[in-house]
Amino acid sequence: MTDTDPTRRVAELRAQIERANVQYHQLDAPEIPDAEYDALMRELQALEAEHPELASESSPSSQVGAAPAGKFAPVRHAVPMLSLGNAFSEEEVADFVRRITEKLGRQDPTFSAEPKLDGLAISLRYEDGRFVRGATRGDGATGEDVTANLRTVKAIPQTLQGRGWPKVLEVRGEVYMPRAEFEAYNARVREQGGKVLANPRNGAAGSLRQLDPAITAQRPLSFFAYGTGVVEGGTLADSHSGVLAQLRDWGFPVSDLTRTVQGSDGLLEYYRSIGQARDGLAFDIDGVVYKLDDAAGQREMGFVSRAPRWAIAHKFPAQEQTTTLEAIEIQIGRTGAATPVARLAPVQVAGVIVTNATLHNADQIARLDVRVGDAVIVRRAGDVIPEVAGVILDRRPPGAQPWQMPTQCPVCGAEIVREEGQAVWRCSGELSCPAQRKEAVRHFASRRAMDIEGLGDRYIEDLSDLGYVQSVADLYRLTLEDLLEMKRRTDARDGTTPETVKSGKVATKWAENLIQAIDRSRQTTLERFLFALGIQHVGESTAKALAQWFGELALIRHLPWPLFKRVPDIGGEVARALGHFFEQPGNQQAIDALLEGGVRIGDAHPPAAALRQALDLATLLVDLEIPKVTRIRADQLASAFGSAKAIAKEAQHNFVTAGLPADSARALAGWLEEPAQRALLLRSGEALEALMAQLPEGDAAPAAGPLQDKTVVLTGSLEAMTRDQAGERLEALGAKVSGSVSKKTSFVVAGAEAGSKLAKAQQLGVEVWDEARLLAFLEQHGA
Ligand code: IVH
Repeated sequence: MTDTDPTRRVAELRAQIERANVQYHQLDAPEIPDAEYDALMRELQALEAEHPELASESSPSSQVGAAPAGKFAPVRHAVPMLSLGNAFSEEEVADFVRRITEKLGRQDPTFSAEPKLDGLAISLRYEDGRFVRGATRGDGATGEDVTANLRTVKAIPQTLQGRGWPKVLEVRGEVYMPRAEFEAYNARVREQGGKVLANPRNGAAGSLRQLDPAITAQRPLSFFAYGTGVVEGGTLADSHSGVLAQLRDWGFPVSDLTRTVQGSDGLLEYYRSIGQARDGLAFDIDGVVYKLDDAAGQREMGFVSRAPRWAIAHKFPAQEQTTTLEAIEIQIGRTGAATPVARLAPVQVAGVIVTNATLHNADQIARLDVRVGDAVIVRRAGDVIPEVAGVILDRRPPGAQPWQMPTQCPVCGAEIVREEGQAVWRCSGELSCPAQRKEAVRHFASRRAMDIEGLGDRYIEDLSDLGYVQSVADLYRLTLEDLLEMKRRTDARDGTTPETVKSGKVATKWAENLIQAIDRSRQTTLERFLFALGIQHVGESTAKALAQWFGELALIRHLPWPLFKRVPDIGGEVARALGHFFEQPGNQQAIDALLEGGVRIGDAHPPAAALRQALDLATLLVDLEIPKVTRIRADQLASAFGSAKAIAKEAQHNFVTAGLPADSARALAGWLEEPAQRALLLRSGEALEALMAQLPEGDAAPAAGPLQDKTVVLTGSLEAMTRDQAGERLEALGAKVSGSVSKKTSFVVAGAEAGSKLAKAQQLGVEVWDEARLLAFLEQHGA
């Protein structure tokens, strides 16, 4: 219940905000989402405005953050580090602009518009061009000395470049953690069972406030400059945009999304364009910041208690919200992984209603101590699946019980097990589990695999539930009659009016289309086929490498696992997963059934000549991962015995005679005693020899295409083809297609509505092609 008495409510709000300030600024462990904090602050400000007698200098509404926690030496900010006022609507932006035009008596003033980075504000002091001290914002007047930690952030210059900088220069900006690095960091920590970072902002803040700079150095932090503080012995440009340009010249990273715009129309247009680009940015932003550009105007506008009157933050809809966790359900994936999913009371997060969120795995639930009934923080960033990021322990209902992974698969009843040292639990039912079967079919038919157009989730459910499709090969046995019969049965089941009654044509049309799409998918490539099989750890790039190196399914499906390691980037784990997959009789039968069903691989070719360099007996012995058989020992064995068959026959003393130390000889002899291992050595040796015999002689280097060594980025939408198709055709000419633009990019192909990648290319001076030029080039080179 909220209190209706203003005095009591103001006190309550202040207490809540102060508590949140300590959690956020000092402990780097916020318990309420930013949106909720903003709402509390707004309510407090409104009440204080309505009841001036309640206003107070010590109210959190007139302060910035929280005083330092005392771990680090205090640093006084000679020029206070202020906060920004917030605008949440277009009207509030219009009001901000009106206040400026009225006071300055100028129409449509110029603004610098910038992304509002979600990180940690810091101040960097340079004396005679050298970085001497860095501090956090703290309460705005006093911050913490985190110089040693900031020295580990590569984006922060230790010495200034260029010329003309003042003798003393304080630069201000935001330290942040790029999103991909945040995800990678958390994935690593999750695997090791450590403590994950709640979000990139906490990651940045927590990392900077480590007592040991070596820890900070391991965290992927970056920096953008957005302003200045103390300036002595020199002057800066008389506009904010001019200052940013100077900072850039002196070696500071300044966001290339920064623009100068005119009047409130310019601001709102900027807000919308950044809002559209937001999901694709490499870092989290929670809004944009508008700053009156000219310095004289800024001085004239001045400040209110905690913020300048010449700047404002225009916030995006929050990416975090609080809601209630109603249940935790288990979802079974293609490889049986049991993922706990949160069922939530519906809540709007960043403009989308969210009712489900991932909880990642059982360890994550234990770490967060999430319980059914809890008030939880839901986070949705970009196109990432919404996740439960935290629990508000204060609001836990009495009697809430810790959660445990069920022991049985909710779909097939098989045992749910966890492999030693692994974070994932799996349903042990494999392809007898309907959930895993459905996922296998879904993956097989997906666009990047066999690309069966029109076979959506609903049909996969129905085909599987009604028994028409038990395995992927069944898809190629489906007839038009099967589909129509299925449709009649589902219509009857769901009580829907059969479309045959509405119009006989419609009902047969979809079935005909689906049959045709299935038929089209029969003609495929080795790469797609391998990917479609859904082998654990085999994504598109591994499938592609396998196809390129070995060329033929007939070879790959019978290859002993150690030989897969000859493909660059395939390590022991992936090689074993491949070997395991092809060892299962059921999988070999499924492949046969697919081929019998008419699947044809159109691009088979002999194994790559480059394999010749990669294959030899000693390397095979290393790849077998025999204990104590290192490269040196493997070389000795290969030269002494010459073949795998010879080695398999030898006894321990002969290994010693061949020059192996006693412990290696013993380990190898012991390994060979295991019949399965001896058989693997023999099979691998035979496969190695057979493969060598097949390899074409001569030049091992792949034929160089006209785009050899070129890196190309595709952006925007093309008319004549999709970006994927364009990418494939460019790759056929030798190009490497990349997702991000850098100085190393050879050229960028920009289609319609190209956005930040095009801008980046222009900024870096990378060549840009339009679609017409691309088409002409492809045509000229017959791709
Ligand atoms: S200017 C006097 N510019 O937002 C103006 N702040 O709520 C002070 N922030 O403490 C700040 N991006 O941590 C400014 N482009 C930007 C910003 C930015 C992020 C943060 C900064 C500041 C907070 C204010």
